[in-house]
Amino acid sequence: LKALNSDMEQEVEELNDSGMEEEDGADVVQFHPAFTYPIYGEHERVFGYKGLKINLNYAAGSLATYFEVEYAKRIDQMESSSVISLKPDNVDEPMRAVLATEAVCQTREEFAQCVAHDTREFRPIGRKVHEYKEQSKGQEQQQYGEGISYEIYESEFENAEFGKYHERLQTMVLFFIEGAQFIDSSDERWRVFTLFERLNLNGVVSYSLVGFCTMYRFYHWPDQWRARISQFLILPPFQGHGHGSALYRHIYSAILADAEYADLTVEDPSEAFDDMRDRNDMRYLLDHGAFDRISSAPVDCKTVLELQHRFKLSKRQMIRCLEMALLQKIG
Ligand code: ACO
Repeated sequence: LKALNSDMEQEVEELNDSGMEEEDGADVVQFHPAFTYPIYGEHERVFGYKGLKINLNYAAGSLATYFEVEYAKRIDQMESSSVISLKPDNVDEPMRAVLATEAVCQTREEFAQCVAHDTREFRPIGRKVHEYKEQSKGQEQQQYGEGISYEIYESEFENAEFGKYHERLQTMVLFFIEGAQFIDSSDERWRVFTLFERLNLNGVVSYSLVGFCTMYRFYHWPDQWRARISQFLILPPFQGHGHGSALYRHIYSAILADAEYADLTVEDPSEAFDDMRDRNDMRYLLDHGAFDRISSAPVDCKTVLELQHRFKLSKRQMIRCLEMALLQKIG
């Protein structure tokens, strides 16, 4: 996977000339999928090629896509294949089946033009609900300093333009979230949060996708909703810089502030997500004196329930946090 954003026309031309081979260039970030089994089967293998390279190129903001397959040899083109007839696996179709057809450029040239255009023209779709500067400065931040900031947008599928953008976005869940499936965008109970890096370079503003979260609301008896985070992803180049925490904290504080919601739950969290969530929930709970009146175990059910309701966390998460708080007190 290559995420790409070009700041200057000249660089796009260079990309064009070089056929986008300049992976080391500052504007091309290359990263690998964690999972490919949703596309190429449970063994994550493609049979019948030597030197096979499958590249998915994305414009960093708009996610305009260029898919290319390279290989040195294919088994049905080798002489030995006349003795035993072996067929190579189809590389093209399974990948194209998970891409947003309207976003896929047919040629490298078309893709380079999309990147040049999108760098200046692409703007996130939806309502801007939060913005922040990065706390721990990553490489980009050091390079571009004050010109860089981060923005969270909230969108619904009723916005057809966003629906199209989500079709581009959703492919990522297959590559990075274990067991993830595409969601039913015709269901109006989904809310989607997207997080973008905003780069202002001498007055030219461009956006790159950092991550996103899909959230579903269930009925909660008698007259509230229960929010459930379904898919949460920070793209690999942006991981470990506090963006997952910033996105999670924004969502959690929105739920806390909204009387229509009873609590915030998470569908099948990964270990890394649990870790991120625990740290953020613990910070919030400690800052708000959640455990001030608790000194030792056992903690009675009534207290657990009270805390759960007050902080709108699931019972499982509240108990996890309580255990951590008790361990901290012992330590
Ligand atoms: N292992 C251990 N600790 C971690 C990990 C990890 N893989 N990732 C983050 N942390 C810790 C950090 O040390 C940090 O601690 P600190 O706040 O004390 O410094 C804290 O969690 C937050 O780190 P962030 O930088 O905010 O996390 P990041 O931006 O990388 O986002 C996330 C974390 C969402 C898990 C991201 O790495 C990711 O998208 N991973 C791949 C996909 C995935 O697992 N998504 C969640 C699936 S579950 C679901 O969708 C409901």
